[in-house]
Amino acid sequence: MSARLLLLPGDGIGPEVVAEAERVLAALRDRFGLEVEWSEGLIGGAAIDAEGDPLPASTLEAARVADATLLGAVGGPKWEAIERSIRPERGLLRIRSELGLYANLRPAMLFKELAGASSLRPELVAGLDILIVRELTGGIYFGQPRGIRQGEPHPDGRPGGQRVGFNTLVYSEFEIERIARSAFEAARKRDKRVCSVDKANVLECSELWREVVTRVAADYPDCELSHMYVDNAAMQLVRAPKQFDVIVTGNLFGDVLSDIAAMLTGSIGMLPSASVNEKAQGLYEPVHGSAPDIAGQDKANPLAAILSLAMLLRHSLDRGDLADRVEAAVAGVLADGLRTGDLAGEGGTPVGTRAMGEAVVARLGN
Ligand code: IPM
Ligand code: MG
Repeated sequence: MSARLLLLPGDGIGPEVVAEAERVLAALRDRFGLEVEWSEGLIGGAAIDAEGDPLPASTLEAARVADATLLGAVGGPKWEAIERSIRPERGLLRIRSELGLYANLRPAMLFKELAGASSLRPELVAGLDILIVRELTGGIYFGQPRGIRQGEPHPDGRPGGQRVGFNTLVYSEFEIERIARSAFEAARKRDKRVCSVDKANVLECSELWREVVTRVAADYPDCELSHMYVDNAAMQLVRAPKQFDVIVTGNLFGDVLSDIAAMLTGSIGMLPSASVNEKAQGLYEPVHGSAPDIAGQDKANPLAAILSLAMLLRHSLDRGDLADRVEAAVAGVLADGLRTGDLAGEGGTPVGTRAMGEAVVARLGN
């Protein structure tokens, strides 16, 4: 049976980079017999403009029945002023939550051709290969209660008549256990080292997190587990990032640490991500945002979207062979010296979005 994919180009450079991933997808179908069909849907600002909702019911339904979804990016200045509950970002948060995509895999690896692009000295990052496993459907992003309300006078001296804003950090044992398993399963295919990041010196929620991760580790005696507080982890990431293999952490800490890790590679335009549920149904998206400043100018780097397609092939379609082929083609075009604007500091031949996508297709072989 043919695999079914949903493409959600979204906003800004999203449509341009997804178009190049689609070109690669078509080549895999035509040349390598990948049995796949796909359709397109609206999300984010594009969906707000068309239907007044950043995640229309039709898009959610299409994502539910798809084996996997490839997303470009959402958001932009045009939609910043509208009410929070219908902003583009809400579309993304809702699709993650509705599909139960709790395991967010964010690799941060240095492409050796781009070693000079990092903000750190080359010797600190040469060979860098980290995987951040971020819990994506729980924690303070989704905990209840949340809101802004009129505050009561407070014993800490806060005057009455002021508003208070609040969110709740909550994790159940079940949520911690399943993300810990995702991390150990991923580590088994890598260097077998998991570092769990929390704030157990302050937060009860983290105390439970640490206890549960430690319990799960007993099922993975071939893997090594360590624990780190999040402030120290942020520091270690910029001090000696190569000490890490897999980092597992909650939603908010993972949001912050994955941006740090991405920047270490100097090529945020290169990094893919996967968000999967227990059925291996997934949402795949570049780590970069919608970059409205360069949208529509054939400047964006499509490689993160193309590498997201590779993750999709590996994790949702069980086609690691084709994923390897796509990744090799990407390495090939970099070795050929092709560089989009974001990598311009690296010399080589300047190319646009389309030319980069076409070069990857040419590099796929037959
Ligand atoms: C990310 C982004 C999102 C997040 C935003 C756009 C809602 O920063 O995917 O890292 O905070 O999860
Ligand atoms: Mg983020």
